[in-house]
Amino acid sequence: MDAKEKLRRYLEQRRELGETELALDGLTVDDALRILGANAGAQSARPPAATAPKQGAPMPRATETAGAPDIADWRDALRQAGASPDTMAAKKPSVVEPRATAREAAASPAASSKPAPPAPQAPTETIEISDIPAGLSVGTAAGELFGGEMGTLRTLEEIAAHVASCTRCPLYSTATNPVPGEGSATADFMCVGEAPGATEDETGRPFVGAAGQLLTKILAAIELRREDVYIVNVLKHRPPGNRNPRPEEVQACSPYLIRQIELIRPKVILALGTFAAQTLLETKLSIGKLRNQIHRYYGVPLIVTYHPAALLRNPSWKRPAWEDVKLARRILDNSSPTSAGA
Ligand code: URA
Repeated sequence: MDAKEKLRRYLEQRRELGETELALDGLTVDDALRILGANAGAQSARPPAATAPKQGAPMPRATETAGAPDIADWRDALRQAGASPDTMAAKKPSVVEPRATAREAAASPAASSKPAPPAPQAPTETIEISDIPAGLSVGTAAGELFGGEMGTLRTLEEIAAHVASCTRCPLYSTATNPVPGEGSATADFMCVGEAPGATEDETGRPFVGAAGQLLTKILAAIELRREDVYIVNVLKHRPPGNRNPRPEEVQACSPYLIRQIELIRPKVILALGTFAAQTLLETKLSIGKLRNQIHRYYGVPLIVTYHPAALLRNPSWKRPAWEDVKLARRILDNSSPTSAGA
C-alpha cells in the first residue's frame, strides 16, 4: 500500500470516529511531503506512524495489535505524543486545574524518573467543571433503582456466578472463561470497556492485556489504583477473534452491567471507547461528539474517552484522553468529601 493510500485510510478512520480536527503529529516532515508528491529529499524510509486497518475490517483489540508501542510509562507515552501532562493545560484551553494538586504534582515530570524540561509558564484559562456542557442523560436521579432483569442479584459475586453460567447469547460457547469484572465493590470510580480480548479470556480478568496495562497506567496517573476502582466490560464473554460485539449480544449482556453499576453506585463512570459509551448512553453518536461533556447515567456523571487500545494505535489521541481522565478525576474530587481517596 502506498503512502497516499495509507493516509487516505487513516483519515477515513478518524472521520468515522468523529474526529474533525487533524494534528499531523504522527508524520515526519519528509513523510508528509512525500505523500503530497513533493520531493522530500528523505533520508528516512519511515512510513506514516499511524495506519488504519483495512476498511470494513474489525478494529484489532490491543491484545492482538501487532507492533503496539512499548509504553513503559504513561507520562512518557504522552510526551511521545507531544503532550506532556504538565504542559497540556498550556496547550489547550480546556480543563485546567485552578491550582496544582498533589495528583498533578505526581503526574508532572518532577515525579517521573526522567528529568524533563520545565513546564512553560503559559497563561492558563480556567474552565470550571460547571462550565463543561451537560451531555446526554439516561435514567433519572441518582439513588433511583434502575430495576431491570438482574434486579434480584444482590452482590457482585452473585452477578459473577450468574455470568459464569450465562447462556443468554452464544458467546459463552466459544469463550474460555467468563470475565465478569473486578475491583472494589465500594469503588467511587468505574471504568467500562467493550469486551474481553484474548488475555482477558485466558485469565478471566478484565483489561489485563496490552490495553489493560495502559489503562492501569492511566489510572495511576490520576492516582487511582486498579484495586480501588471497578473495571468491567459491556460483554462478559470474548467475541471470537475479537470481532465487534453484535447488538443482540450487547442487549443480552448489558443487564449485568446495569446491575453492577446499580450495586456499586460509583461517583464517576469512565466509558472507554465507542461500545461502552454508546451502550450506556443509548446513542449512536461518535466518540468525537460525546467527549468533553458530562453525561449522566442515572444521575452518575459519565465521561467518555478513547479506548486504551485505540490510544495504542493512535498516539495522537493520548492528549485528549488525558484531558478526559483529568476531568473524570476532578469530578471525583468534587463529589462528596468521603469519595475522593485514591
Ligand atoms: N478491551 C476491552 O474492552 N476490555 C478488556 O477487558 C480488554 C480489552
